[in-house]
Amino acid sequence: MTRLITRRSVIAAGATAGTLTTLPISMVRLAFGGTREDFSFTYISDAHIQQIKGASFVRNWDMGLKRAVAEANLITPEADFVMFGGDLAQLGKKEELDHGGEMLSHLKGKLRCVMGEHDYYFDLGDYWSKLFGPQWYSFDHKGVHFVVLNSILTTDEWTFHRWPTAEQRMLEMAGLDNPNGSPFMVGDKQRAWLKDDLDKVSKDTPLIVFSHSPLQKIYKGWNFWTDDAEQVQALLQPFKNVSVIYGHVHQIQYNQIGNISFNAVMATAWPWPYPDTYAQAGAHVPVLTVPMNRADPFFERDATGWQMIDVNSGRVTARYQLWDNQERVVAYDPKLGKPVDKKYQEAIIRKAPQQHY
Ligand SMILES: [Fe+2]
Ligand SMILES: [Fe+2]
Repeated sequence: MTRLITRRSVIAAGATAGTLTTLPISMVRLAFGGTREDFSFTYISDAHIQQIKGASFVRNWDMGLKRAVAEANLITPEADFVMFGGDLAQLGKKEELDHGGEMLSHLKGKLRCVMGEHDYYFDLGDYWSKLFGPQWYSFDHKGVHFVVLNSILTTDEWTFHRWPTAEQRMLEMAGLDNPNGSPFMVGDKQRAWLKDDLDKVSKDTPLIVFSHSPLQKIYKGWNFWTDDAEQVQALLQPFKNVSVIYGHVHQIQYNQIGNISFNAVMATAWPWPYPDTYAQAGAHVPVLTVPMNRADPFFERDATGWQMIDVNSGRVTARYQLWDNQERVVAYDPKLGKPVDKKYQEAIIRKAPQQHY
């Protein structure tokens, strides 16, 4: 006879007969309504595949993505799935998305994708969606609720009424510090969808959100920014355990705002400098972040790489696979209630600059 085990019946059994400790682990999980277990996924981002002409593409960017795919495929045991964090293409062209998609097709395991502004602003995501599916969606995996957002939308006026051609619109948004760009946003429609989606999820369920731009305001001048970040954060804050993982900034950043932990990821294509470097003003890097070293221009792959993300008890540990530098690990510290760099968080341990070989 199959017996349905409920949380109440287990507590009652434990309280009255002392049988709780004899239950197999799988039954306890079932009993407490959670199927949560530790797992890993790989995260590759910002490949910026760029067509030169015809079948000719920028070799350096191709090699970055190929290397990430090859290394991710070597992971044993295999990760549960692969996320691609956006900016697969450089100028949103069909040829670039096809070429990048072909390289990603060699990945073992299920691939899910986030929309980047370089994928979007040529045809407003039309071809990308044909290849990779919806621009925002959610799914559940091993007791964790995952949400993917398209955070790189902007106003209708900028998108539809300002530029004479789609190519020009794409070029204006592609620049890092182009004042003709426009702040990114998730937007009303998608926030309404997010609210509906999250209303169905218990506040105890760990939540991991993927966006391309940071869902926090770092530096507007370079669009390291999402204009409605506070409104999105307000929807996430009621959850006890929330992580946001984002691409776009091409550098290690991490932060904690209330219940929300933030981890940025590196690019396979190139590193951006930290905004402080050029902005000549402080407070443009999240306060917890120990910056990566300045990239060494003599190593074309320096400060690039991919990520292995471990999820332990619903919390994120980002293992940054830096190709020409030391691996960095940023993990949530339950005592401090925020993510910390496992090696370099304490200033006394840091070497400045961290040595290149
Ligand atoms: Fe990018
Ligand atoms: Fe981007």
